[in-house]
Amino acid sequence: MFFFKKKPAQTITVLPHPGVCPQGEVVAATVGQSIVEILLENDVEISHSCQMQCACTTCHVYLMEGAKFVSPMGTQEDKLLNQTGDRQRWSRLACQAVFEGGGDLLIEIRN
Ligand code: FES
Repeated sequence: MFFFKKKPAQTITVLPHPGVCPQGEVVAATVGQSIVEILLENDVEISHSCQMQCACTTCHVYLMEGAKFVSPMGTQEDKLLNQTGDRQRWSRLACQAVFEGGGDLLIEIRN
């Protein structure tokens, strides 16, 4: 008899990153947690130098799909992202983007 692993209701797909997850990763997304919290709980060791206080940019990600499924950007996050040299309109600080449910996310870790 075969048992198939049930796909989680909603996921975060992380594109391959040489230092963090060379093969990429797909993790279950939990409503009410930030992207950083979700990744760390699933052993995806994204940088988070200020301990998720919105005071650095080490958790910078490109949120390539699913932007409408996370909390909106705040003023401080917007200011910090302006300090990065590679900001895109889909940039987020992963510790400030709280998953609100409704669909899957696709991200690229920048640092
Ligand atoms: S961990 Fe510093 S802003 Fe996200």
